[in-house]
Amino acid sequence: MQEMKTNIPQHVTVIMDGNGRWAKQRGQERLFGHKEGVESVRACTEFAVEKGIKYLSVFAFSEENWDRPVAEIEGLMQLMIKAITMETPTFQKIGVRFRVIGDFSRLSQKLRDEIDDCMKLTQENTNLQLIIFLSYSGKWDITQAANRFYASNKERIMAGEDVQMSAEDLSANLSTSDIPDPDLLIRTSGEQRISNYMLWQTAYTEYYFTQVLWPDFRKEEFQLALDAFSKRERRFGKV
Ligand code: IPE
Ligand code: IPE
Ligand code: MG
Repeated sequence: MQEMKTNIPQHVTVIMDGNGRWAKQRGQERLFGHKEGVESVRACTEFAVEKGIKYLSVFAFSEENWDRPVAEIEGLMQLMIKAITMETPTFQKIGVRFRVIGDFSRLSQKLRDEIDDCMKLTQENTNLQLIIFLSYSGKWDITQAANRFYASNKERIMAGEDVQMSAEDLSANLSTSDIPDPDLLIRTSGEQRISNYMLWQTAYTEYYFTQVLWPDFRKEEFQLALDAFSKRERRFGKV
């Protein structure tokens, strides 16, 4: 069968949801679902490279997720360290630049070191940027952007100048300033909300919701999302 001609998005972002329910369905601990979710990240990364997608970003841990039970948080952070160590050779092999965005102040030194090492090692890779949003929230990002703007204009403000912040100024101070806004946002597990993810950057993003739980979201499911995207007509307010 001939493959449908698809209009490939430049930046796909995913709210990976449903790991806990996937585990529960199997009578297992939530962490079992998170582990299987890592496999989905690997499959989707490979698929994104095959498809020529340039940016794949995933919401891995929100600011609000810090309110989960300590054991789950600890398990997730350990899993993160392990996954980064395990996957680094693959990133090198298939040309993936690895990045992490979020409030690092709450992460352990060990995890921060692991992240730094992998980001440095892979920074010249150009096939795909894989961006992990970790300890991230959209409101945090906008707030820190505003604070950065005012910090860098302090002298002008002190001198009594009427300093106004434009939308471009705010974008330039976001943690995603060098990343194009997402073209497509996928959320798994049937939830249809933004959960304080990239609030500013998704102003014109196309949304795709699926009932499939994140550990079951692999290449076939990703292809369905791309097919849906290529049928969308994006108008950006024009006629
Ligand atoms: C998504 O799966 C992963 C994280 C938020 C860390 P969940 O852990 O939210 O799984 P459900 O929604 O409880 O099934
Ligand atoms: C959103 O999932 C955050 C991540 C996927 C990291 P949640 O499961 O935390 O979201 P809510 O609580 O259902 O909105
Ligand atoms: Mg959830």
